[in-house]
Amino acid sequence: MLLKSNVKALKGTIRVPGDKSISHRAIIFGAIAEGLTEIEGLLESQDVLATISAFQKMGVRIYQNKNRYLVEGQGFAGLKEPQSSLDMGNSGTSMRLLAGILAGQDWTVTLKGDASLSKRPMDRIAIPLELMGAKIQGQGQRHLPPLNLKGSSKLKAISYDLPVASAQVKSAILFAGLQTTGQTQLKEKAITRNHTEDMIRLFGGRIEQNGKKISITGPQKLKGQKLRIPGDISSAAFWLVAGLIVPGSQIILENVGINETRTGILDVIKAMGGQVNYLSVDAKSKSATLEVSYSQLKGTEISGDLIPRLIDELPIIALLASQAQGQTVIKDAEELRYKETDRISVVTDILKKMGVQIQDLPDGMIITGGQPLKACQVDAQLDHRIAMMTVIAALLVKEGNVQLEGAEAIATSYPEFFKDLERLENA
Ligand code: S3P
Repeated sequence: MLLKSNVKALKGTIRVPGDKSISHRAIIFGAIAEGLTEIEGLLESQDVLATISAFQKMGVRIYQNKNRYLVEGQGFAGLKEPQSSLDMGNSGTSMRLLAGILAGQDWTVTLKGDASLSKRPMDRIAIPLELMGAKIQGQGQRHLPPLNLKGSSKLKAISYDLPVASAQVKSAILFAGLQTTGQTQLKEKAITRNHTEDMIRLFGGRIEQNGKKISITGPQKLKGQKLRIPGDISSAAFWLVAGLIVPGSQIILENVGINETRTGILDVIKAMGGQVNYLSVDAKSKSATLEVSYSQLKGTEISGDLIPRLIDELPIIALLASQAQGQTVIKDAEELRYKETDRISVVTDILKKMGVQIQDLPDGMIITGGQPLKACQVDAQLDHRIAMMTVIAALLVKEGNVQLEGAEAIATSYPEFFKDLERLENA
């Protein structure tokens, strides 16, 4: 598609759509708990629909009533063997988290996905889940999907040091641990998003945490709950950056999730001199209304424990850095290579084509700001966040247009993205 370019200021208010990580988990916890779960603010995107349809295939009733989703859970024991393979589409979160649930069921199931998901390594979950007693076969050494997963109702508790900083791997082990007799212990490489831990507690379960150490004793029964899902800071990130870099912009973002394991981008914006104000905070649902204004920015370094707190925002942060004075260095982010695409390589290629001075590193990127962006033709390669980053970058192109292949991937996490952009252009 041909993208809008050379836009004037962006103004107005956006209500950010539901958090993707929390939405997957709300459905999962609803399905494995006993009783009714009522969810307000669920993200209705393709990725979350993949999780919903997988549980429907396992016999769980999930349906909409007015503005809520209802899940009639019957506990782990109420899940039924699916009669066909489970298709996770583009969603790594669905595949990895569900693998942890299925590890504890006495069935053999095939988990498959689209072309992008079929290139993503599943050895990171296969290794610990096999140590617990499941059998998982994938393609090649790195266990690429489709996966053939044979679960067991007699899993063994393990003690495991995560070799990668990954909330998906942590969550898969915790879901298996909830079904395992005895204490499963984990140590994270770096603290990652903690939505699974939060929801175990919310659904009446028990989990202990001390810094990077987490332990869970099973088997546990969970109870259905009512919950309201805050907006996704990873979706808000596109408007935060757009507001900072399109001259004259001022945008209000309502319903931004501010769980501290996710707010790394706000720390980076502050370090770069960007103007973001908190207009109000709702402590119960951990969300806030933020106001962002066009700002003069300077380069910064992004590394270490900050990385897992903004991992999904790095493509749009790379664009932000291209509009800052001086150099921004992103390090310790090798994990970016294992997302919907190899994001180090795809972000570098696209921004280079647009005229940005950017260099890839094995574990990051170096970006020197200040070059004007120019028209070109690029392919987002089935990666929603790369596609959205390109749409925002194109807004700054003064002459000609950017032609983007693969913009349809945006529906995996933000189906209303283009409508929201239009709203900001016309306010
Ligand atoms: C997610 C965890 C992150 C993130 C992904 C969603 C989750 O992946 O990139 O978009 O919901 O647990 P990793 O845990 O693999 O880093």
